Amino acid sequence: MSETFTVVVNGVQRSIDADPSTALLWALRDAWGLTGTRFGCGAGSCGACTVWVDGVPTHSCDTPLWSVAGKDVTTVEGLTEQGPHPVQEALIAHQAGQCGYCLSGIVMRSAAAVDEARAAGKPLAEDDVRQCLDGHLCRCGAHNRIVRAIVEASEG
Ligand code: FES
Ligand code: FES
Repeated sequence: MSETFTVVVNGVQRSIDADPSTALLWALRDAWGLTGTRFGCGAGSCGACTVWVDGVPTHSCDTPLWSVAGKDVTTVEGLTEQGPHPVQEALIAHQAGQCGYCLSGIVMRSAAAVDEARAAGKPLAEDDVRQCLDGHLCRCGAHNRIVRAIVEASEG
C-alpha cells in the first residue's frame, strides 16, 4: 500500500507516493529525475548507487524509502552545486575512470573520505583509498589512476 514520503534531496524537499519498501534509488531516478545515481547490481554489491544519507555514504538500491523519510540525501548532482568537488577535479586531471557508470558511486564514497581527511589535516594514503573503495566495482582498469587522484584530492 502506498504512503507519502518526504525526503530532503540536495537541499530541496521532495515527496513521493510509493510502497514503503521502494528503494531510494528508484525515487531519485524515476520520480525526481536525478539520474546521476546509477543502478548496477541492485543488491548492495557494486557501489554504483552510492549517495549520502545524512552525510554517510549509503547504497540507495537497498535503502527503503521508509528509512530515509525526513532525512537529508545528497546525490552526485548535489555534490557539484558549489562547483566540482576536489575529487572530481583530481579524477579529471588524472583522466581516471572511463565509464561514467561506476564513477558517480566512487565519487560519492571518496568525496566523503576526502572531506574528512582534509578537515582533519590527514591526507589519505593509497591503502586508505583502496580500503575505502573496496565495495566499488570498476572493470575498466583505471584503478591506479583513480586511487592516485583521490590521494591527491585529500592532500588539498
Ligand atoms: S546498485 Fe546498489 S550496490 Fe550495486
Ligand atoms: S570507471 Fe567505470 S568501470 Fe572503471
